[in-house]
Amino acid sequence: MIKDMLAKLENQLLRSMAFQVEGDYSAALNGYEQAFEALCFYEKLGYKPEVETLWRRVLEAQPEPALVLFFHGLIQYHRGQYLSAAEAVHAAISLKPEVAFHYFLQARALTALADYSGACAAYDRIQELAPDSGVAQEGLHVLAVEKEMPGDDYYAWLQRFHEWLKPARYIEIGLGHGRSLALAGPETTAIGVDPYQGFWDKLDYVCPHGPATLFPLTSDDFFGKYDLREVMAQDTFDLGFIDGLHLFEQALKDFINLERYAQKDSVILIHDCLPIAPIVAERDRCTGFWTGDVWRIIPCLKTFRPDLKIMTIPTKPSGLGVVTNLDAASTVLSDNYDDILRYYLSLRCPESFDQRRMVCSVGPADENLIKGLLKIIP
Ligand SMILES: C[S@@+](CC[C@H](N)C(=O)[O-])C[C@H]1O[C@@H](n2cnc3c(N)ncnc32)[C@H](O)[C@@H]1O
Repeated sequence: MIKDMLAKLENQLLRSMAFQVEGDYSAALNGYEQAFEALCFYEKLGYKPEVETLWRRVLEAQPEPALVLFFHGLIQYHRGQYLSAAEAVHAAISLKPEVAFHYFLQARALTALADYSGACAAYDRIQELAPDSGVAQEGLHVLAVEKEMPGDDYYAWLQRFHEWLKPARYIEIGLGHGRSLALAGPETTAIGVDPYQGFWDKLDYVCPHGPATLFPLTSDDFFGKYDLREVMAQDTFDLGFIDGLHLFEQALKDFINLERYAQKDSVILIHDCLPIAPIVAERDRCTGFWTGDVWRIIPCLKTFRPDLKIMTIPTKPSGLGVVTNLDAASTVLSDNYDDILRYYLSLRCPESFDQRRMVCSVGPADENLIKGLLKIIP
């Protein structure tokens, strides 16, 4: 299966090269970035020679030195080698200072290196060169995220939860390209639900350690059609991750449906509970970086279900809610569903990040504290 995925990524690179030749840099770069991120995953899994061949193909296809340097920087960026990425793109810029996408890579590499003024200067340059692209405005959110939520991203935290809990059964709602599902460990049977991405040929990542079953359905259809106990061949799940449709009422429905199959110590993680700015939390998507209004679920659960243990980890890019002490027999949320929507859909997203931290029950991003607070480790 990994060989198939690598072949698929190779095709994606070839498509990006074709877009590049046609001059459609936006489509080309989107494809390259998505493939590079996945290739780094396979590189870490031990497929170094195969991935190296693909890196070389991309570099050798470049028609000029500035592009070779840029792509070298992009590869290093996705590998987490931020200094080397910043140096490579700096060299690309010295050869071709008029290319806006050079500065986007520079801004991201400098952000990762905590050189925020350098990153701001790069975004200013993008604003001069490509004022209609919206990249500079998006970049300011990325910068704010880095300042407000330094440290590990949510994938690293998900990985930790897998290591701590070693879940026998893991269920994920909303797969994207499959990167979060791939974190399931060898002791885990994973279930993935996604109406658009719930097919292996749509995903870029395999689950390298344990078996996974995909359901190409909306979460509502999945829970309407299946009894999760039968799907899991077990009465309860141990770890769940809600990252599907980014609307409050859907996240709430996903939570209600999952909790019916939980035991007290199961943990439900909810992505996007701490938006970096009110605009990224709008219900109608108007930004590239979008969390929707999932954040409402935290104050909602705090009020309606004081029996739950809840906190949000301030992890980039948009916070990770953690809920445990679950009660499969509770009907409080479903009984009050209409009232809950009425109350919480009218709640405004607080303007300041500090207010959002309070409303979203943000605690410190401290491993031991989280383990202790939630008593997820005996
Ligand atoms: C942000 S992506 C998930 C990213 C992924 N969990 C990760 O971290 O790598 C959101 C996914 O939710 C899926 N989605 C949208 N509506 C859904 C629904 N009603 N039920 C389940 N998944 C849904 C989309 O197809 C998309 O793949």
